[in-house]
Amino acid sequence: MRRNLIVKNAAELVTCSGFAAKKGRAMSELGIIADGAVVIEDGRISCVGPTTEVLTQLKASGKDVSIFEAIDATGRAVLPGFVDSHTHLVFGGFRAEEHVWRLKGDSYMDILRRGGGILSTVRATRGASQAELTAAGLKRLDSMLSFGVTTVEGKSGYGLDRTTEIKQLEVMAELNRRHPLEVVPTFMGAHAVLPEYKGREDDYIDFMLAEVVPEVAARGLAEFCDVFCERNVFSVAQSRRLLTQAMESGLKPKLHADEIVRLGGAELAAEIGAVSADHLLHASDEGLQAMAAAGVVATLLPATAFSLREPYARGRFVIDAGGAVALATDFNPGSCFSESIPLVAALAALYMNLTPEEIVTALTINAAAALGRAQAIGSLDPGKQGDVVILENPSYRFIPYHLGVSTVEKVIKRGTLVFDKLNRDKNLAG
Ligand code: NIG
Ligand code: FE
Repeated sequence: MRRNLIVKNAAELVTCSGFAAKKGRAMSELGIIADGAVVIEDGRISCVGPTTEVLTQLKASGKDVSIFEAIDATGRAVLPGFVDSHTHLVFGGFRAEEHVWRLKGDSYMDILRRGGGILSTVRATRGASQAELTAAGLKRLDSMLSFGVTTVEGKSGYGLDRTTEIKQLEVMAELNRRHPLEVVPTFMGAHAVLPEYKGREDDYIDFMLAEVVPEVAARGLAEFCDVFCERNVFSVAQSRRLLTQAMESGLKPKLHADEIVRLGGAELAAEIGAVSADHLLHASDEGLQAMAAAGVVATLLPATAFSLREPYARGRFVIDAGGAVALATDFNPGSCFSESIPLVAALAALYMNLTPEEIVTALTINAAAALGRAQAIGSLDPGKQGDVVILENPSYRFIPYHLGVSTVEKVIKRGTLVFDKLNRDKNLAG
């Protein structure tokens, strides 16, 4: 596989240049280079600039130009690969019948209380073999790649026991070995309360901390620990206890915060210095402001609000308060069965009042920051991984504008072309 590549003549090279989350007004800065080029050597970006300058520099360096595969991006926008920083991509079974119940008026939490929802996926995931989960995961990663995603976060949390939580994380490690898309694993053992632990949630947290977290940390199976901090699930105090102790084991904290009711998850995220707090549909002004001040990335998931027919999180407020917003799909079999980046972008524009520039930042450098990887991915800067998306249109503005339809033509991961819409269509035509 070629890992030396030059993409040249891009109508817009949208660098998103930076090595940390962009906050407030800085989210509008995309660092665009007209008629731009990016050079990738051995999987890493080595040079970025106007095409003529980049080509002159390359020739002057005396390097053997024939080792570079060249892609002509005339008439196309070129961006960093998208980072989907919140998904639940490893699961068994589906919940199509629940979707119909919800369409008829059942609520997401009522279905969970009746033993469905997340608990239904727990049963299916416990019953699925590692090979079955891996096969399903590979297909899902293919689809995500076609939307321009080059790094994806995935959570456990459909086991709620030691064996299955570990099995889900091992599947993510296997996916990482077998698929070009990079999977960042998060341990989310505190995703729902099993009937046998109802009213004894603290015992469940004790069990996770004693029996699962140490193994997850010791084997390097996850980088983050997440918790569903929600009424009738895990309280703020329980979430605080789990996350602070998991931090001592080396797992970085994330939260599902204030998704269904206002519980104070945003405030907790600020207090403990979480890497991100996600959802935030019902977060308070004070909570969002505290997060902005503490540098916690607000990961917003508009496709989930859309799917649950809930009000959208206040992305505009967060940015105006000087905070950093990331956007992600929340792909999962229940609250949001969609891995669609274009849907997320369109909803963020139409219902969160984010500008196209802010949306691009939220899908790239800020999403990378939400995974603690702003130094390595999320922008086209020399030294970073060669993860690049080429659109079929000349501007990033097409991302939220082409409603629900992907504008991604080619995807490059670490300098290798891993998706090409043109070839895919050719293959289909026979
Ligand atoms: O982010 N809220 C909790 N977890 C997921 C949904 C998981 C599921 O329904 O299977 C979420 O919405
Ligand atoms: Fe989620």
